[in-house]
Amino acid sequence: MSTLRRSRQKFYNVFSYCYDFFITLHSGHYRNETRNFLVDSAQPVRTKQVRVLDVCCGTGSVALAFADKYVDALTVGCDFSTGMLHKAALKDTAHKILLVHGDAACLPFGEDCFDIVCCSHALYELKGQARTAALQEMKRVVTPRGQVLVMEHEVPQNYLVKIMFYIRMLMMGPTDAREFLEQGLTPFRNIFNDVTLSHSPSGKSKLVICRKS
Ligand SMILES: C[S@@+](CC[C@H](N)C(=O)[O-])C[C@H]1O[C@@H](n2cnc3c(N)ncnc32)[C@H](O)[C@@H]1O
Repeated sequence: MSTLRRSRQKFYNVFSYCYDFFITLHSGHYRNETRNFLVDSAQPVRTKQVRVLDVCCGTGSVALAFADKYVDALTVGCDFSTGMLHKAALKDTAHKILLVHGDAACLPFGEDCFDIVCCSHALYELKGQARTAALQEMKRVVTPRGQVLVMEHEVPQNYLVKIMFYIRMLMMGPTDAREFLEQGLTPFRNIFNDVTLSHSPSGKSKLVICRKS
């Protein structure tokens, strides 16, 4: 395991202690808005026993929202931070989801086994090659008629929030930040056959919906 990856895991393990609090401060009620928008945008082909995978699930809020909407679903959250997974497991409704320790760039699942694969506000925290590998892995594990939904922050309008946004971008490194800001859908179109873009009602997050066929 690379030193960079280990130090990022450590960072997320520490961050897990205050992650939900930080997100509530940062996003307020928009967190629910973007999460609901993501969950409602999913259109699984199956109506029963939908299989959902949340990649980089963090403290599990998106996976839990899917489990609430699809009561008989198999909902799996996967993350490489044991701290984040531990926080997810402590939540009241955690029994509704399965939590799996794994790397987005090498998912511990077989091919074509999830109807919906999502990744919320995490893809652009992966470095260049790992990001491409994660997209390829999401494509591998989703069923041929399934959807991969990737949600990311849009560039904020508010001055102060914009400063925080650019700090996050700088943490990603200048090349990755430029790619995020300039390349738009290109990294997705390089991997998936069908890619569409939409925005949450407030415009704060963008949602890229990908299909492999
Ligand atoms: C900003 S948080 C987003 C969490 C969650 N998706 C949400 O919307 O609240 C980023 C998450 O990605 C996870 N992560 C980062 N790199 C990863 C990797 N290579 N494999 C798996 N998880 C990773 C971190 O541990 C962290 O939980």
